[in-house]
Amino acid sequence: LANGVARTPPMGWNSWNHFFCNIDERTVKATADALVSTGLAALGYKYVNIDDCWAERDRDWKGNLRAKSSTFPSGIKALADYVHARGLKLGIYSDSGYTTCSKTMPGSLGHEDQDARTFAEWGVDYLKYDNCYHDGSKPQQRYSRMSSALLKAGRPILYSICEWGEEDPARWAGRFGNAWRTTGDIKDNWDSITLIADSNNVWGRFAGPGRWNDPDMLEVGNGGMSLEEYQSHFSIWAVMKAPLLIGCDIRAVRRETLHILGNKELIEINQDPLGVQARKIRSRSGLEVWAGPLSKKRLVVVLWNRSGSSAPISVGWREIGLSPFSKVIVRDVWTHSFVSKGTRFRLTAHVAPHACKVYVFTPL
Ligand code: GLA
Repeated sequence: LANGVARTPPMGWNSWNHFFCNIDERTVKATADALVSTGLAALGYKYVNIDDCWAERDRDWKGNLRAKSSTFPSGIKALADYVHARGLKLGIYSDSGYTTCSKTMPGSLGHEDQDARTFAEWGVDYLKYDNCYHDGSKPQQRYSRMSSALLKAGRPILYSICEWGEEDPARWAGRFGNAWRTTGDIKDNWDSITLIADSNNVWGRFAGPGRWNDPDMLEVGNGGMSLEEYQSHFSIWAVMKAPLLIGCDIRAVRRETLHILGNKELIEINQDPLGVQARKIRSRSGLEVWAGPLSKKRLVVVLWNRSGSSAPISVGWREIGLSPFSKVIVRDVWTHSFVSKGTRFRLTAHVAPHACKVYVFTPL
């Protein structure tokens, strides 16, 4: 959607993957502070997104949504002010049905204009819009109604479409929104991220500036995977031009987690202005090569070992669209160093189980 936002994939944090419904304004404020103090905000993680369960069960007498007084006593406007004062942006969540997926608060069905106006008045910058408990009408209709409502609301609001099951959203959602989910909910385990990577990969050609495939939010730092697995999760999400929404508790983030989420070179790949999603170009016995173009005629290449044992993975220049005589410099964005040996015609690396290598190829 050409609404001026999300020209590169959105980056930030969302409450759901770690806190689920146990979210309150104190936690959101402390998270905003932590984004700044850890340096993550300076790296581009700007959106502080509240997911489900932030509102009272019923609307007020005018039909307006209202923040839950037990958990968000100061209200959403005050929270937006707090977040904006730190140079960050605030995101919120609603649903294109009668209630949200948690069933604890109303959805926006039939209240699209009113709710979009409310969000704009509060200073909200991002809306994640879910697909639970609706009236059975086509998602295209329900999602386009909120899209028009947001465009009229008088504030640029990034519109994230959370629909994947009913109609392949990649085929239509780019007209209405800035991102759309391509899969069911992510889980903090290896099977989930490999499955999601493959599903999201199929829709690569639909992504571009202002419109992104969304393989769901990051689980990095939530404890269910090894560091190699989290590194692979983050790398593949970054090169697939996924929204990078941190899903762990940043108030207590560990150094190893920050090392992954804070990889500046990978963030630059994700935020590259060309905005083309890298794709899987080869897979044999769990040894995979993913690649895609970057701006300035550069390429990103990922060697991903999905097998259970250490193995060499090799890629030839021809496979990634280079002539065998192309002269390139190759940089490893995890070791932050240039690869000097064996970079003519072909690159080979030994990759640990469930780990990956990510390289940027720059033509000489
Ligand atoms: C759905 C979404 C999740 C989360 C929950 C909240 O399952 O896919 O990302 O927003 O709803 O209830």
